[in-house]
Formats: sequence, C-alpha cells, structure tokens
Amino acid sequence: MGMVATAEFIAGLPKAELHLHIEGTLSVEMKRRFAVRNKLSLGDASFASLQVPEGSGDQALDIQQYKMFLALYFEGLKVMQTDQDFYELALEYFRQCRTNNIVYAEVSFDPQAHTDRGVPFGAVIEGLGAAQKIAREALGIESQLIMCINRDLTLESAVNMLEAACPYRDKIAGLGLDNVEDGHPPNKFQTVYDAARDQGYRLTAHCDVDMVNAREHIRQCIHDIKVERIDHGINVLDDHSLVGAATERNIHFTACPTWRKGDPKPRRVDRIERMRGLGLSVSLNSDDPGYFASGYMNHMLNAVAATGRWDNSVVADYVKEAFAGAWIDDERRAVYIRRVDDYVAASDTQCAT
Ligand code: HPA
Ligand code: ZN
Repeated sequence: MGMVATAEFIAGLPKAELHLHIEGTLSVEMKRRFAVRNKLSLGDASFASLQVPEGSGDQALDIQQYKMFLALYFEGLKVMQTDQDFYELALEYFRQCRTNNIVYAEVSFDPQAHTDRGVPFGAVIEGLGAAQKIAREALGIESQLIMCINRDLTLESAVNMLEAACPYRDKIAGLGLDNVEDGHPPNKFQTVYDAARDQGYRLTAHCDVDMVNAREHIRQCIHDIKVERIDHGINVLDDHSLVGAATERNIHFTACPTWRKGDPKPRRVDRIERMRGLGLSVSLNSDDPGYFASGYMNHMLNAVAATGRWDNSVVADYVKEAFAGAWIDDERRAVYIRRVDDYVAASDTQCAT
C-alpha cells in the first residue's frame, strides 16, 4: 500500500452515492427557512449538535442513539410541506453533489412521512423531480429516486404507498425500507416487495448495523423478499452462509461509515474492509449528512481513508463498487467506471513525473 489518498485525489474522483435520505440532508438553516415560509414553530433539538455519550459500540446505547436520531429526523421533516420545499431541499443536495464531484446519485425519500401529514405524493415528486431536472441539465448530475417504506408503520400503509406511487411509476426507480428496525422485520412487507417487483421497481432494504435480529433480517432480505441491494447490511459478516448467498446473488451493500459528534473516528471501517476482503460489493455513502458529523461525501471519505490508511487505489475501488451497484444499464456503468479509471491513470502519471 502506498500513501494515504490525498484530499485532492478524493475531491477529483467522479463518484456515485447510492444511500442518501433526502430528508436527512435538512440543515438547520433550511429547517428555519421552510418553517418560516410555512408558518410553523420549531423545536430546537438538532441531532447534529448532540454529543453522543462515551461508550459508542455498546449495542443498547447505540440503538438508543439511533432511535433518538430517527425521532429528530421525523420531527425535522415536518417543515417540508410544499413542492417548493422539496425542490429546494433536493437542489441543495445536488449542489453538494457538484461540490463533492458526485456525478450519479440515487436519492431515497420517505413518502409516508409526508402523505401522513397531508402533503400530496405528487407535491413531493414534483419538487424532487424539478430539482433532478436542474441537476441533470445545469449541474451534469444524473439521479434516480428510491421510495422507502417506513417499516414501523402498518403493512396496509405500505400497500397504500405503493398504490399512491402508481401515477409516478416512471419517476421512481426503486423501493426501499427504512426507519426503526426493532420489531419490524423485512418479511413484514413481503407482499409489497412482490408487487413492486412485478411493477418493475428495483429493490433494496435497510438492515441497519448491530440491530436486534440483524442476521435474521439480512437472511429475510436475501431469501424471502429477495432484494438486489442491502442498505448497511454489515452484519452479513456474522454468518458465513449469508456471505455465500450474498456473493452468489451479487448483492450490493451500501455501507455508511458515518460518525456522530463525539465518535472518535468513522464507524464501521474495519468491518467494511472485511466485507470487501471477502469479495462482497460495497459502496460508501453519507446516509444523512445533515444530521451526522461525517457530513457529505468528500469529508467522510477523507476521514475514512485516513482511518483505514487507504491509498488512492483502495478509494477508487470503493468508488467503482458504487457504480457497480448502481441501478443503471451496463453501457452507462462502463462509461462511469472508465471515467474513474482514466482519472486514476492520470493521477498516477502525475505522481511519476
Ligand atoms: N436508518 C433507518 N432509517 C433511516 C435512516 C437510517 O440510518 N436514515 C433515515 N432513515
Ligand atoms: Zn439509511
């Protein structure tokens, strides 16, 4: 291994992001702006400013923190009410993509969290779609949408979500599963996944890190609901047979080596390395950059590279894995991967002179 990848190398790499909750990009400034415009009062709790108590790695403490984060995330998204809010939210993310040289993004959103408050599905799609159009035409960024089932709501609610999405089928690439995992196994939504597959949606689901029943949830994702990707999914390492099944089915894992305020360093780096070492396809993603101290892609990658002592070629390998896991056709995939290879080759030449 050579030198740790430089910030300059990381900044210039053309990147993809596959695991990003658009509601999780809400900054304190945007939250205030939307609240004022929509005449709402604001709670002032902000996960980004909360210090995680010492003892990170303790399962009970981490699950408690995870639930606190999700509560604040759902509290925060209540300021989003109109298509304009979703437009501005997504456009700011795409500007961040530009800054971070993310050229392709798959953006998750939580329809039920909005429609349950009376926000029309169409307003969410209109706003996000308008931002996607600007991203494509003015910023050179391609993107697709993933709608996530809020897993702690009922099966019926998820069925309704899939039906509400029907008029927008061509604007949504995939189906995901997120929010509080405890007590809400993937196969609770077996029928929705089967119906979505029939309608041509691509399929993913969260198996968050170190949850209760983590292995069983991963097993269900692979063998029961039959996803193509797993969001996080790091506990696949806990079971040889799952590693085998994931490898055989070429399941991609969207890992998120994020950290919270108070964490000493990026989390999960060693386990991500082990996954990759076993030949699993793994990408690196920012998840909820408005809420986590890790922030956006380049900031995160720099710290992860430093933690793992990764050189340019290792960082480039993970970036190529993101394109490998992307829901795009193989022709476009090859173009993106070629861009990464060309960039790496050009950087190597510079070093040699
Ligand atoms: N896990 C589950 N649900 C979520 C997350 C997450 O990290 N972020 C936003 N919704
Ligand atoms: Zn997530």
